[in-house]
Amino acid sequence: MDYPKSVRIVEVGPRDGLQNEKKVISTEKKADFIKRLARAGHQTIEVTSFVRPDRIPQMGDAKELYPLLSKIDCDLVCLVPNLKGLEVAHSLGVKEIAVFTASSDSFNQKNINATISQSFDRIEPVIEKALESGIKVRGYVSTAFGCPYEGFIEPSKVAEVAIRLHKMGCYEISLGDTIGSGTPLSVERVLAEVTKGIKPTQLALHFHDTRGMATANIVKGLEFGVSVFDASSGGLGGCPYAMGATGNVATEDLLYLFQSLGIETGINLEKQIEASTFMLNDLGKVTTSKFLQAYLTAKDNHGSLYLPTP
Ligand code: HMG
Ligand code: MG
Repeated sequence: MDYPKSVRIVEVGPRDGLQNEKKVISTEKKADFIKRLARAGHQTIEVTSFVRPDRIPQMGDAKELYPLLSKIDCDLVCLVPNLKGLEVAHSLGVKEIAVFTASSDSFNQKNINATISQSFDRIEPVIEKALESGIKVRGYVSTAFGCPYEGFIEPSKVAEVAIRLHKMGCYEISLGDTIGSGTPLSVERVLAEVTKGIKPTQLALHFHDTRGMATANIVKGLEFGVSVFDASSGGLGGCPYAMGATGNVATEDLLYLFQSLGIETGINLEKQIEASTFMLNDLGKVTTSKFLQAYLTAKDNHGSLYLPTP
C-alpha cells in the first residue's frame, strides 16, 4: 500500500479536548499545556475558541490565553463561529482560524443556532474578512459520518457542504466524526464523494473514538492519500451538543499507528506523553488512549515499552 511518507497531526486537545470539561482549568495551566505540546514537536495546535462563553464556559478565557502563547513557534489555530469571534481573533493577532458547520441541520441548530444554509451566510463574510487580513482559514464539517439527531448522513450531502466551504477559501477541510460512529466503509464512501471536488491533500480527518474505530478509519484515510489527522492528547474531549460522544482519537494512539507504518510525524512520543499526563493529572482523569494505558502500565511495572517497526 502506498501510504504518505509523512503526516501532520493537528493537536486539538487544548480546544476540543478541554471544551467539555467541567473542572475549570486555569489559563496559565492551559498555556503550559500548549507550550509542552509545542516542545513535543507539533506543527499545528488548535488552542482555543472565540465562542459564546455561556455556551462553552471552559473557552471563556480565550482572550487572556492567546497572548500567553506569543513565543510559541508553531501554527496556533483558534475556532471562530462568526464575525464577532473574528473581530476578537483579529485584535489579538491570530494568524489562523477554523470555521465550522455540519452536514446536518439538526446538529447545527443545537451547536450554533443555525441551519446549514444560515451557517454559510455567517461563515462567508468571516472567511472573506479573514483572508483579506492575511489570516489562514481551516474549515470543519461536523457529523460527516453520522449525526446524534439524524443518524445516517448521505455522503453526497457531506461532499456538498465540504466543497462549498472549500470553494469559499478554506485551505483545508477537516471532516468531523463528531460522535465517533464512522467505520472504514463509511469513510471510504464519504471520501469517494468528497474527493470528487477536493484533493485528498487538502483534506483532514477528525475522528472521535467513541466506538473504537478511529485508527481503522485513519488507515482508510491514508489509503485515499489523506495526510492530515486531528487528534487530542490522551484522548481528551467531546462536544456538549453530541451526547454520548467521547474524546478525539488520542494523539498517542496515532503516534503508535504511524510508527508501525514507518510514517513520519515529527512528534517526540515521550514529550507528547509528558504533555498529556500533565493535563490528565490536573483534570484527575485516566487516559482513554489504549497505547498510553499500556505504556503507563509497562512503566509502572518496569516492563519494556514495545514499539513496532515497519
Ligand atoms: P447566537 O446565540 O446565535 O448568536 O450564537 P447571536 O448573534 O444571536 O448573539 C447572542 C448573544 O451571544 C449576544 O450577546 C452576542 O453578543 C453573543 P447579548 O447581546 O445577548 O449579550 N455572541 C458572542 N459572544 C462571544 N463570542 C462570540 C459571540 N457571538 C455572539 N463569538 C454562536 C451563535 C455560534 C456564537 C453560539 O451558538 C455558540 O457560541 N455556540 C457554541 C459552539 C461551540 O463552540 N461548539 C463546540 C465546538 S464545535 C465542535 O466541537 C465540533 C468539531 O470539533 C468538529 C467535530 O468533532 O465534528 C469542530
Ligand atoms: Mg470534535
